[in-house]
Amino acid sequence: MTHTPEAPGTEGSETPNLDFAGTTPYEDYVQADVLTHLQNPLSDDPGEMVFLVTTQVMELWFTVIVHEWETAAAALREEKLPVALDALKRSTRELEALNASWKPLAHLTPAQFNSYRSALGEGSGFQSAMYRRMEFLLGDKAASMLVPHRGAPRVHDELEKALYQPSLYDEVLRLLARRGLPVPPEVLERDLSQKYEPSPEVEAVWAQVYGAEEVGASRSELVVLGEALTEVGELVWRWRNDHLVATRRAMGSKVGTGGSAGVAWLEKRARKNVFPELWTARSHV
Ligand code: HEM
Repeated sequence: MTHTPEAPGTEGSETPNLDFAGTTPYEDYVQADVLTHLQNPLSDDPGEMVFLVTTQVMELWFTVIVHEWETAAAALREEKLPVALDALKRSTRELEALNASWKPLAHLTPAQFNSYRSALGEGSGFQSAMYRRMEFLLGDKAASMLVPHRGAPRVHDELEKALYQPSLYDEVLRLLARRGLPVPPEVLERDLSQKYEPSPEVEAVWAQVYGAEEVGASRSELVVLGEALTEVGELVWRWRNDHLVATRRAMGSKVGTGGSAGVAWLEKRARKNVFPELWTARSHV
């Protein structure tokens, strides 16, 4: 953001402007006053603040990443591969920043977490609609994930729209098909509201793309795309694992505030592969 260096009457002093008729242009743009008054801890424990703010920071990163992946999906649909790659590459830097924000919560002891855990009631990250939109964009769709949001019409409508839209991966597979690769019709015409299921034919397509790579020569744009997606997949997997380890440290095998079996349930979630065939195809190259 640019700063106006001179206040009226202080020309040449090179000090920032101090005099604004209303709120500062910074405030008008960033809404820092709104943002820094959204922290309402539920306990008296001084350690709850960083738990709450880390969660809010992650929600903001989820929002940016959803924006990047939606940009990438739309660009792929319009055959604007460089625009899609730029958005995917931005998202990998953002995923790295998201993952780094585990740091303040990665070493909680059970006693520290217990100091505010009961105040959370049934609240759980499982109820994060923006995280669910990320999963939908990755192809991990489930209509049941709309149910918790019935009481919040805007959130529910956005999530419902995302359920029926092609995921980022659907758009990738459509692009591969347009490039003449044999993506089967049942994959291209699949019910978009269902979870994407790995396909042996799609695995063969990625094996063909990667198999054509000439080491030392410039990469084909499809290998570049495949690698950008692999990077995204790896970083999402790392988020899930960092979450799992932080949870194991903070609460062992107790049940979650959201009602799941806790760590055992998260372990199952962390085993899922993002863009599955991009990983399995490597065995055939
Ligand atoms: C150390 C602190 C944390 C603990 C102990 C913890 C624990 C859990 C547990 C046990 C679950 C399973 C669902 C349940 O029964 O509640 C869960 C789910 C989840 N948590 Fe956390 N969590 C922590 C921090 C966070 C933070 C900071 C976020 C950021 C938004 C977050 C986001 C999520 C999400 C998105 C899910 C759903 C995952 C999925 O659907 O696969 N968690 N968490």
